[in-house]
Amino acid sequence: MIDTHSHIYLSEFDQDLNVVLERAMAAGVSQVLMPNVDGETIERMHLVEDRYPDYCKSMMGIHPTSIKENYKKHLAIIEKWFHHRSYIAVGEIGMDLYWDKTFVKEQKEVFETQLIWAKEKNLPVVIHCREAFKETFEVLERQLDEKLYGVFHSFTGQAEDAARIMEFGNFHLGINGVVTFKNTTLREVLQNVPLEKIVLETDAPYLAPVPKRGKRNEPAYLCNIAQQIAGVYGLTQNEIDQITTNNARKLFKI
Ligand code: NI
Repeated sequence: MIDTHSHIYLSEFDQDLNVVLERAMAAGVSQVLMPNVDGETIERMHLVEDRYPDYCKSMMGIHPTSIKENYKKHLAIIEKWFHHRSYIAVGEIGMDLYWDKTFVKEQKEVFETQLIWAKEKNLPVVIHCREAFKETFEVLERQLDEKLYGVFHSFTGQAEDAARIMEFGNFHLGINGVVTFKNTTLREVLQNVPLEKIVLETDAPYLAPVPKRGKRNEPAYLCNIAQQIAGVYGLTQNEIDQITTNNARKLFKI
C-alpha cells in the first residue's frame, strides 16, 4: 500500500518517527507521500526525506489555510524550491472556507497559480477542498485541460461532487479514515465511484480511522481504511491493496 497523504514530518512524530515507519512497513505500507503545508514546514519535510529517501517522498505547495496577509512570501519560497529540485506532486493546494473566508480571493489566486505550475512541470496536483467545492471547481475548470491531473485528497463530498470530479477525467479521490466513521455518507457515495479512481491516504496525524479514532493517526493504520473499502466494493483487502497501490503508482509515476 502507498500512503498518498501523510504529514509525518510534523512535531507529533518528533519522538518516535523511526518506530512509526517500522510499524508502517510491517503493516504493508511500501511508501509514504508527504504533502507540504507552507514555508515553515519545508525544512522538516526535507529532513524526513533525507533520512528515508526511498520511503518518504516530498510534495511542494502551499495549503489554503496558510494563505494570510503574507501569502506572497510563502508562495515565493515555494516557487524557489520548485527551481531547486524535483517533487512528486504539487500539494497540498486548494480552497478552505471552513476555517476562514477572509482570504477567499487570495486563496483562488494562489490555487490557480499552483495549478499552472503543475501543468508546466507535468506533475499531479493534490487538492484540499473544505466547504469550498463551488470555488474549487470554478478555479479548476478555468485550468482544466489534458495536462491537469491529480487527486481530491480527503474526499468527503456528496454523490454529485464525486460525479463532477469523475467527469473531469484525470482526477482521483483520496480516501482516508473518514470512510470508517459511523456518521459518514462516504461509503454510499463510493458505490458510484470506480475503484480505479481511488487512492488510499491517512492524512496523519489527523483523522485516525476506527478503532483508533481521536488518537494520533499514522501510516500503519492504512490497513483499517483498506479493510473498510473492501467491504464497500465487495472485494478482499488484498485486492483493494493491489488495485489502489497500482492507482497511486500510475498517478504519482512511482
Ligand atoms: Ni493534509
